[in-house]
Amino acid sequence: MGEVDVWLITDQPNVQTLRRYPHAVGNQWHLDPDTYLAVVRSEIPSYDWLHSRLGEASSTVFARRILDLGSGTGRTAQQVAMRHPGASLIGIDASDAILMHARQLLPEATFVMARLEDPLPEGPFDLVVSAFAIHHLDGPAKADLFRRVAAVLAVPGRFVMCDVVVPTHAVDHPVLLEEGVDIPSSVDEQRSWLIDAGLRATVVHAKDDLAILVGDLIAFD
Ligand SMILES: C[S@@+](CC[C@H](N)C(=O)[O-])C[C@H]1O[C@@H](n2cnc3c(N)ncnc32)[C@H](O)[C@@H]1O
Repeated sequence: MGEVDVWLITDQPNVQTLRRYPHAVGNQWHLDPDTYLAVVRSEIPSYDWLHSRLGEASSTVFARRILDLGSGTGRTAQQVAMRHPGASLIGIDASDAILMHARQLLPEATFVMARLEDPLPEGPFDLVVSAFAIHHLDGPAKADLFRRVAAVLAVPGRFVMCDVVVPTHAVDHPVLLEEGVDIPSSVDEQRSWLIDAGLRATVVHAKDDLAILVGDLIAFD
């Protein structure tokens, strides 16, 4: 696969405006399940560390039912499932070809082809997780997804998301973005959309253009 230049036209001052993007085909994200892990680790050196942090943030919840949004090849689901032995896990992703790999990695889980914009699988889920997928939605679609996540969460229930964000400052080695495909939002925006969805929002990690946010659905007396 040759490299292609991708112009990223944006009014966000902290988003790099031209990237040499080795995995873009035209304007389409090309995710090769066989090389995905090596590619994402080279593009996001903290990929495994962030997944550990996401797993840790999930681990204080007693989860019987877990939902993973944008499962890809199943790495996020695997990180979370190992911390919740005995829990059932459903993962959704727009690509059935990618989900074939997730099914091989975690045969005990259920992976369903669906878009994040579609109605979510029926809850309640004690835990909803997502890594590096929600930035494919624009701002209103993220806010809408957060509302729908809150609606399928059990009480108490937790939503943990890890993703690329618009940084508050210039970043030395930003995550490569493709115009029209990667639509990150800021930590503050996403935190306020979590709150609007009725969740108690916590930023458990924010550094440069990567962040982990938690939204808790808590019981009120
Ligand atoms: C970068 S991968 C992340 C996979 C996995 N969570 C991980 O961290 O390794 C993003 C995934 O989101 C999926 N995706 C992108 N947009 C989507 C959408 N609108 N609905 C459902 N899945 C989507 C892609 O098919 C891809 O598998």
